[in-house]
Amino acid sequence: KLNDLVGAATIDFTLNGETISAFEGETIIQSAKRHGVDIPHLCYKEGYRPDGNCRACVVEIKGERVLAPSCCRQPAKGMDVSSVSPRAEHSQKLVLELLQSDAPGVDLKPGANELAIWSDKLGVKGSRFEARHQPAPDASHPAMWVNLDACIQCTRCVRACREEQNNDVIGYAFRGAESKIVFDFDDPMGNSTCVACGECVQACPTGALAPAKNAYAIKADKTVDSVCPYCGVGCQLTYH
Ligand code: FES
Repeated sequence: KLNDLVGAATIDFTLNGETISAFEGETIIQSAKRHGVDIPHLCYKEGYRPDGNCRACVVEIKGERVLAPSCCRQPAKGMDVSSVSPRAEHSQKLVLELLQSDAPGVDLKPGANELAIWSDKLGVKGSRFEARHQPAPDASHPAMWVNLDACIQCTRCVRACREEQNNDVIGYAFRGAESKIVFDFDDPMGNSTCVACGECVQACPTGALAPAKNAYAIKADKTVDSVCPYCGVGCQLTYH
């Protein structure tokens, strides 16, 4: 985590033509952010373990044939990095298009979520690729709902549940086009061991996981003792 790196030794590298310094152990995206450069990202969230699965954050490194995910790659002394070269920007936009087609249920109104924000910033107004639809949203839980049609499989929710909250309810299952997030053993969310801590809702960059107040008004047939996910104060509540 970035706070743990503050005070570490630094190295200099070039980002978009400017020489900047990075703490040892810091990734390119963290260093860029500290210097006012916001590189597109979706599966990366500061404080979470980087996973490098969406590729929205790719940058071009001089002398390297393959673009690098800036959320996972640490800069080396003298490295020449560009997040805005034609090749880097072309790939970032292509990734956003692919994610839009893979998650056609995402609300792309400006500011609605992180995918909408980055699509807007990079001028990606739609996708040329065929949409891949998922089953209807699961509104079986009294506090939250999940809409897989809006899921880009970034696994932030998996890391939130397992690594931030130690709940280990959400997992990633199946293969290829069948792959998806699941609750326990692919149970309906309302039948799972989810305690509605809300960490996954906070982590989701597309609104695929959302508070139930935003969901279809289905009355769930259970109650859940939980920490309210709405404001972070941590009130103990029982959801009906
Ligand atoms: Fe870096 Fe997803 S944000 S790969």
